[in-house]
Amino acid sequence: MARAAIILAAGMGTRMQSSTPKVLHKVGGRSMLEWTCDLANNLGCEKTVIVVGPQYPQVGEAASALVGESNVCIQQDQLGTADAVKAAIPAMTGFTGDAIVLYADTPLIPSEVASGAFDAISEGASIVVLGFHAAIPGGYGRLVLGKDGSLDRIVEAKDANPEELAVTFCNSGVMAGPWPLMAELLGEVMNDNAKGEYYLTDLVALARGRGLKAHAAPCDEEHVLGVNSRVQLAEAEAVFQKRRRNELLEAGVGMIAPETVFFSHDTQIANDVEIEPNVVFGPGVTVESGAQIRAFSHLEGAVVSGGAQIGPYARLRPGAQIGNDVRVGNFVEVKNVKMGKGAKANHLSYLGDGQVGAGANIGAGTIFCNYDGFFKYQTVIGEGAFVGSNSALVAPVTIGEGAMIGSGSVITSDVKPGDLAVGRSRQTSKEGWALSFRTIMKARKAARAKG
Ligand code: UD1
Ligand code: CA
Repeated sequence: MARAAIILAAGMGTRMQSSTPKVLHKVGGRSMLEWTCDLANNLGCEKTVIVVGPQYPQVGEAASALVGESNVCIQQDQLGTADAVKAAIPAMTGFTGDAIVLYADTPLIPSEVASGAFDAISEGASIVVLGFHAAIPGGYGRLVLGKDGSLDRIVEAKDANPEELAVTFCNSGVMAGPWPLMAELLGEVMNDNAKGEYYLTDLVALARGRGLKAHAAPCDEEHVLGVNSRVQLAEAEAVFQKRRRNELLEAGVGMIAPETVFFSHDTQIANDVEIEPNVVFGPGVTVESGAQIRAFSHLEGAVVSGGAQIGPYARLRPGAQIGNDVRVGNFVEVKNVKMGKGAKANHLSYLGDGQVGAGANIGAGTIFCNYDGFFKYQTVIGEGAFVGSNSALVAPVTIGEGAMIGSGSVITSDVKPGDLAVGRSRQTSKEGWALSFRTIMKARKAARAKG
């Protein structure tokens, strides 16, 4: 059966206390809205519709970028979850398969868990929700089961009697069903309840009223963690990090203090990579097998090849392509530079925009001066070249293969392969000068002390 997803993202999210709309806040480096779209894709949904509110044009723009403008629907007033799903009806025209409703503020549902809702439809249920046993049921809708264990109805906390409030089996918000049936039942939902809202949860009782079966598929609370505040955003982040660390450890990545290592949603680390404590992976990082990422390093948008050693205290920024057996040591920043096999920059350098040939050695304190305040330029270092410490290479500039740069040089023109370039004033030494200087000064000081 064809699958579609309807993602609700029209809520205000006022409890975030943020000028950024809630669903654009990030977990693992990507927005909760993207996480939810990704889930829809992983579920094999051929159509994904996002319902947005008119208050936040940024959400509409982000949604259009993800699913196309024709699949973005505006819910004018936030009259409840059923009203929100109703707003998706025009965009769902012609779809006759099964639909799943997802909340854009519930980012971490594993696809195999959400898939269970579709499975229950093929096993005969007409409306399926994901339910969980809540530690604190609070404001969640309560799942009231019939004698046969099927789902009888959902009672919102505000409408529940004490007996219903005591139920701890709660509605996650995820609901699935055959779309033509859901669309029809949506027309029957009323708002005669405590909140005066149109509840999507009423679809259960409406389906039961037609003699159809409803089902609550159980899942873990952690899977359906909703984000309403920054505290919960941090909780969701913690759940993501823990999940990712465990996956990577299981896949053979070495970490002695995994709780101090932070990943992004797309971080790719091969087996037998060793990661020391306190490392942060921003988006877009790939690390190949056999590399070592040492303590206190920060990486984003970088590729690290096998045998390379990064850090401690290194920073790799977007476009850093680190070849096999390369060393990037403490307080070295690499941005948009490709480093060939075995190249080394071990201490205190900025390498921005360019290339470092295989086996080249970049001395401590070397700076690629890549920017004139308007444009960025390339620095190209040939294979096996040796750049002496504290050199400033003013781009655009090319240092030929095997060339050497004298320490402390400011290099403004190209250096030919095999040459030595020294770009600093020549040293002069004055014989005995220090000795006689001290003698004079000591005498002067003694004279002053006498008065
Ligand atoms: C809803 C469920 C409740 C469930 C809980 C799980 C209903 C009536 N209740 O309650 O059973 O336990 O979620 O978290 O469905 N939204 C819109 N437009 C609206 C209203 C809501 O897009 O008019 C979106 C919100 O942005 C949010 C989601 O729908 O992402 C849920 O809305 P919310 O008001 O938080 O529902 P709850 O009262 O928490
Ligand atoms: Ca909620």
